[in-house]
Amino acid sequence: MTQLGTGLDSARAKAQAHREFEAWAATYDQSLLHHFLFTPSYMMLMEEIGDWYRLRRPASFSVLDIGCGTGTVAGLLASSSWPVKATGLDFAPAMCAEARQKAEKAGLLDRASFLAGDSEHLPIADASFDVVTCSNSFHHYPNQQEVVLEMRRILKPGGRLILIDGFRDNVIGWFVFDVVITAIEKDVHHAPWPRIHDYFSKANLTNIHRKKTSLWFPLLATIGDVA
Ligand SMILES: C[S@@+](CC[C@H](N)C(=O)[O-])C[C@H]1O[C@@H](n2cnc3c(N)ncnc32)[C@H](O)[C@@H]1O
Repeated sequence: MTQLGTGLDSARAKAQAHREFEAWAATYDQSLLHHFLFTPSYMMLMEEIGDWYRLRRPASFSVLDIGCGTGTVAGLLASSSWPVKATGLDFAPAMCAEARQKAEKAGLLDRASFLAGDSEHLPIADASFDVVTCSNSFHHYPNQQEVVLEMRRILKPGGRLILIDGFRDNVIGWFVFDVVITAIEKDVHHAPWPRIHDYFSKANLTNIHRKKTSLWFPLLATIGDVA
């Protein structure tokens, strides 16, 4: 079925993502893209989570990282001094296995856990998490509005959604993400900022704002809160 919004064929895009990341899991952490895209995203996520934590000061809190890959963000959270429990969710079981193995080696399994699942149908009860994050994964989702509604559904009141993906709204971003990355990954869609804003606002998120970083591999963080 083709879904209005991304123009992607849902079954084909998901099968392609599954194939790509099952195959990539074992070597993902060695990718050169860590220098340009992935590590800067992790830093942005940690900064945004830190801002939320300092604002709210909960006695403890929980974070779900959707499309967690090899679980680096969950690992950073679990080794931080914050009173946090981190869960990573990924569509590719091989990514979850890598993530679990890394956390086990680092002795973090008491504060980091991982599960396989599809972002569009989260196997998680309503209002379960304080913060939901997602980095470099959203462009693989054929039904992006549905995913943002799911993210919103599992957030607690006062919670925050932080979504990071390639910024494709200038010439450099368009070339990097819409031309080069799309030619490599095929069935992907980097949504323009007004559309992401629309997804967030249709999901009843408030205080919607964005942050952009980096010139050559520009990243866009979109942040929204649950009232
Ligand atoms: C480029 S990796 C990003 C991993 C990590 N978030 C990072 O920033 O390094 C994209 C991840 O999204 C996952 N993914 C793709 N489609 C998904 C879906 N429908 N639901 C959950 N995860 C998905 C892939 O399996 C892959 O691990």
